[in-house]
Amino acid sequence: MTYLLKIEQLNVGLVATRQSLLSSMSFSLKKHGCLGIVGESGSGKSLTCKAIIGLLDANFYCTGDIWLDKLNLRKCHHKKLQTLRGSTIGMILQHPMAAFDPTQTVGNHIVETLCMHRQLSPSAAKVIAIDYMKKVKLTQPHIIFNKYPLQMSGGMLQRVMIAIALSLEPKLLIADEPTTALDSVTQAEIINLFKSIREELGTTMLFISHDFGVINQLADNVIVMNQGSIVEQGLANEVLHHPQHKYSQYLISSRLTLQKRFQAIVNPNSLTKDNV
Ligand SMILES: Nc1ncnc2c1ncn2[C@@H]1O[C@H](COP(=O)(O)OP(=O)(O)OP(=O)(O)O)[C@@H](O)[C@H]1O
Ligand SMILES: [Mg+2]
Repeated sequence: MTYLLKIEQLNVGLVATRQSLLSSMSFSLKKHGCLGIVGESGSGKSLTCKAIIGLLDANFYCTGDIWLDKLNLRKCHHKKLQTLRGSTIGMILQHPMAAFDPTQTVGNHIVETLCMHRQLSPSAAKVIAIDYMKKVKLTQPHIIFNKYPLQMSGGMLQRVMIAIALSLEPKLLIADEPTTALDSVTQAEIINLFKSIREELGTTMLFISHDFGVINQLADNVIVMNQGSIVEQGLANEVLHHPQHKYSQYLISSRLTLQKRFQAIVNPNSLTKDNV
């Protein structure tokens, strides 16, 4: 099996207090595959992404190896990492506002990013940008192009970020809760877009979501995290339907209970003894 990403014994913590935040994490992501990460809030999903792309600041210590093909990202110069981010490793961060400069229009941001990574002229970059904005179901892309980040909703910015990440056609796409700010119809459309990008371009994906339904649709493998460690990993179908570890069982059954309660509220006729 060929792996694009291989994490070996990753440990992350706070320098000041020596508090461990991620401990002994090891996992691999095969080429063209999609690995889902699930776990409660605070379990370390976003930190794992940040460690992979080298975005942890000096407040954190980080040990272990992070292999992207034959390149150990942990040993890379920060300039090399900078060139890899975006073009080779695409990122969709959890909090879209943080990824934008509030003084720059969304259009400028996209065109600059595309020109920097894909050697395009600004006018060619604009054509691609508009095309991807349509793909992420942003209506009136020409109007959005001239807006500032603070004039846009979280969901719209999230879609712009997805459009930027996809337009750079990275080898590896790290998506941290990419659809949480979206309504369920848009979410379903964006999930289909991720699926077709994977099929058409063979993009390898690391995908974080609180929504097991989303993970089930996209990921072939999944890891379950609890308090900075991996408690279970395996095929998505098996882990999500027949979790072995106590914590995964708890996480999945509490999510199912929530879903059933929600169903009961929106459709009271579906109430039976079994799903109350
Ligand atoms: N800058 C920081 N300083 C101190 N602790 C931090 C910092 N960033 C994250 N942590 C801690 O690291 C742990 C993991 O955080 P992380 O953001 O990775 O969680 P998460 O699984 O992504 O949660 P969520 O589902 O809410 O996004 C948490 O306990 C958090 O408090
Ligand atoms: Mg997070």
